[in-house]
Formats: sequence, structure tokens, C-alpha cells
Amino acid sequence: MKPKLVVLTGAGISAESGIATFRDSGGLWEQHRIEDVATPEAWQRDKELVNRFYNLRRKQAAEVEPNEGHKALVRLEEQFDVYIITQNVDNLHERAGSARVLHLHGELSKVRSTLDPSLVYEIGDRQIAIGDKCEKGSQLRPHIVWFGEAVPAIEEATRITQSADIFIVTGTSLQVYPAAGLLHYAAADIPKYLIDPNAETVAGIFNLTIVREKAGTGVPKVVSQLLNR
Ligand code: APR
Repeated sequence: MKPKLVVLTGAGISAESGIATFRDSGGLWEQHRIEDVATPEAWQRDKELVNRFYNLRRKQAAEVEPNEGHKALVRLEEQFDVYIITQNVDNLHERAGSARVLHLHGELSKVRSTLDPSLVYEIGDRQIAIGDKCEKGSQLRPHIVWFGEAVPAIEEATRITQSADIFIVTGTSLQVYPAAGLLHYAAADIPKYLIDPNAETVAGIFNLTIVREKAGTGVPKVVSQLLNR
């Protein structure tokens, strides 16, 4: 049986593909207020604005390509059972070729019914409009977990993390919970890597190797080390 390797990714792994992160300088939350575009209240108040925001992001995500960081993670599958847990709503891990990707915060390429959350539709890079309805006649909304909403995939992500043999974190500021808490569910004695140009030590986490590099170079380095052990 192959060892189980779990990777938690955030916006930083897609930065070198050309998608802005949220909290770095020039990041998305400097240009838009979270309360205006990424909460259920914002959607209630101004659906056109929220929808336009996600239409634009969907279009942008479809125009960029996976980078060396995404691609290196695919190579790990030669020797490990790899599980990617991502906070990203782009599909660059899938397009790079990763087999198992769990999206904690939803996916830009999907929309869902506002009446029945189990009705989820793949729309690729298409735009949606206010007035576009699900099969039961209710407005479609972005398939995105907004601030203040539950994170349905967190239980599965926690289970996967608890049984990891190796845990890699890259491209996340670890500021948004519950995703940020996952690191604490990895077993104390397993090797852990944090790859991020601005990484700081994390209190209470043992066996943590910090690689202060961008994902595009840091991830391939760690991957080569792990494959050549
Ligand atoms: N390679 C690796 N890491 C990078 C790179 C890069 N090239 N460039 C920036 N980073 C790092 C930053 O140092 C920072 O730690 O990526 C991180 C980005 O942090 P955030 O912008 O906070 O993104 P993220 O952690 O994914 O945000 C979590 O908040 O609003 C949201 O829902 C959104 O999923 C997102 C969540």
C-alpha cells in the first residue's frame, strides 16, 4: 500500500498562474469588500453585483494555466496516495491532472439551485445571469462557500487529514477557519511541510519543515525530495 500524502492548498499555489491571492498586497480583498461580494447578505442585497463578480472570476480562471506547483503535485501520485484539499475555487489542480481534489470553498465552474442545494450544475466557463433558473424554477447561484456559510466538505477533509502519513501545506495564509485548523488534525509525528514565501512557524505543530519559496519552485523541490527518499 502506498503511503498517504495529503496536501492543503490555498490561493498562493495559483498566484504564479496569474490569479491574485486574497490577502497579499494587491489581493482581491483590497479591491472588493468581502461584505459586498462574498456573503449571503451581499447576495440578498445585490445579486447582480455578486453574480458579476463571480462571472468575472470564472472567466479569468478559465483563461489561465496550471503552473509548476500544480504539476509537481501530480508527480507525487507515482509513489503516494495523494489527496488534495484545496481552498481554491479554480480547477487548476484537476487541469494539471491530480486525481483526487476536494474543494472546501466550492468551485467556480459550478452553480447550484437556491432552493435545493443538492442541484449542482457544471457550467464550465459560461456566465450565468440573474433570471437563470434551476430545474425547479429557482434562481441559480455560484457554487461557492461564502463567509458565514457552513463548509460541508470539512468533515471529509478532517478524516483525510487525520490518516495522513505526510502533510504538505502551500499557498495559504492559514487565516480562514475551519480550513486553517486542518493542520492541527495531522498526527504529531508525521512529516509536515509548509511552502510559502511568507511562512511563519505555527505554534503547536511538530515535525514542520518550512520552505520559504513560491509554490512554483518550492513545491517541485519538496516533491523531488519525497520521490527520492
Ligand atoms: N507561492 C506560494 N504561496 C504564495 C505565493 C506563491 N507564488 N504568493 C503568495 N503566496 C502565499 C501568501 O504568502 C499567503 O500566505 O499565499 C497565501 C495567500 O493567502 P490568502 O490570500 O489569505 O489566501 P488563502 O489562504 O487561500 O485564503 C483562504 O479566504 O477569502 C478567502 O475563500 C477565500 O479560500 C479563500 C480563503
